[in-house]
Amino acid sequence: MFKTIRDFDVSKKGIFLRLDLNVPIKEGKIKDDSRITAALPTIKFLLDKGCKVVACSHLGRPKGGPSPEFSLSPVAKRLQEYLKENKVLFSSDVVGEDALKKYADLKEGELLLLENVRFEVGETKGDEELAKKFRKFGEVYVTDAFGALHRAHSSVYQTAKLFDVVLAGFLVEKEILYLKEKLANPEKPYFAILGGAKVSDKIPILKNLVEKVDGIAIGGAMAYTFLLAKGQKVGKSLVEPDMTETCLSIMKRAEERKIPFLLPIDHIIAKSIEDTETECSNEVKEDFGGFDIGQKTIENFKKEISKAKTIVWNGPMGVFEKEQFKKGTVEIAKFVAELDAVKIIGGGDSVSAVKVAGVEDKITHISTGGGASLELIAGEKLPGVEILYEKGE
Ligand code: 3PG
Repeated sequence: MFKTIRDFDVSKKGIFLRLDLNVPIKEGKIKDDSRITAALPTIKFLLDKGCKVVACSHLGRPKGGPSPEFSLSPVAKRLQEYLKENKVLFSSDVVGEDALKKYADLKEGELLLLENVRFEVGETKGDEELAKKFRKFGEVYVTDAFGALHRAHSSVYQTAKLFDVVLAGFLVEKEILYLKEKLANPEKPYFAILGGAKVSDKIPILKNLVEKVDGIAIGGAMAYTFLLAKGQKVGKSLVEPDMTETCLSIMKRAEERKIPFLLPIDHIIAKSIEDTETECSNEVKEDFGGFDIGQKTIENFKKEISKAKTIVWNGPMGVFEKEQFKKGTVEIAKFVAELDAVKIIGGGDSVSAVKVAGVEDKITHISTGGGASLELIAGEKLPGVEILYEKGE
């Protein structure tokens, strides 16, 4: 097992805290700060214990060094707004002069946020020299960077290796509890709902789930590659023809296991994604694309899902960002929300979809991870999770 910040006396310790504060920012304005608020319980806990906290995160994917649009400066300001009673400092570099100076002056109960770790080119390469520099910022390593734990990056993995005490924050603890522990022994029937644009992004999770679940429903554009594989008409819908063989083998496996594998039986079709003139049709006509599941499909999915005691959902049922194509996702989200079951939403777009439906409060766990959630649900080993278990022994 791994240790959390509850299992070790962190009082007045120097903490190196890896977070995932990778929030969407446009023209200096934060568009969604859920990842910041998700990190607050851990930050507050450490500051209330009188720790000196050096926090770090990546933001976006800057190439080859610092660039202002990827600065964490707006995030530092937002943190200060939330942490009214504690001073939040921000360093204009990651491991340079400014960071070292501010660290030297840091007091108990204060937080120093370092500039975007990806401004150091060694970060994504898992550079050990960079890790040694991070190692100097404290005595205890705490990670609450769930969304980044699938990356063997310097601040995520190599740095943790250099600390004797490596602890999970509350967010990481909860994510692992639901996405790894609970799904390893789910209450049955266990049902998966998968959607989103591409089958290719979901192959590992599909291959894993088809062996474990008692039923799968597929919506979103990825359903059209499955329908194409079955020889159905898909019109101009988004498909990945090179994935049809894989789709067939997944469907074959579901058949062998005698579990329902549900695909759309009707569709909301339109001439283009921008088109507000739509039709509900049993097949996707030529010249049309499918952009949402139809009413018969919604009812069919609901019938099977209603039996579930555990549900994992990743990916929307249609282009829910558009008013004309959001009904499938919203109806399924509302239905899932009311069920008496463990309901886990596996990150990324599905989270926004659940928010559009306004049912976040009724979901057992909404993951903050994108790729990290997919990999963990798929049963893969994540470097940032593995090191926690290793150091916890
Ligand atoms: C995410 O947004 O999924 C995480 O922050 C990881 O970001 P990355 O895919 O750029 O590593």
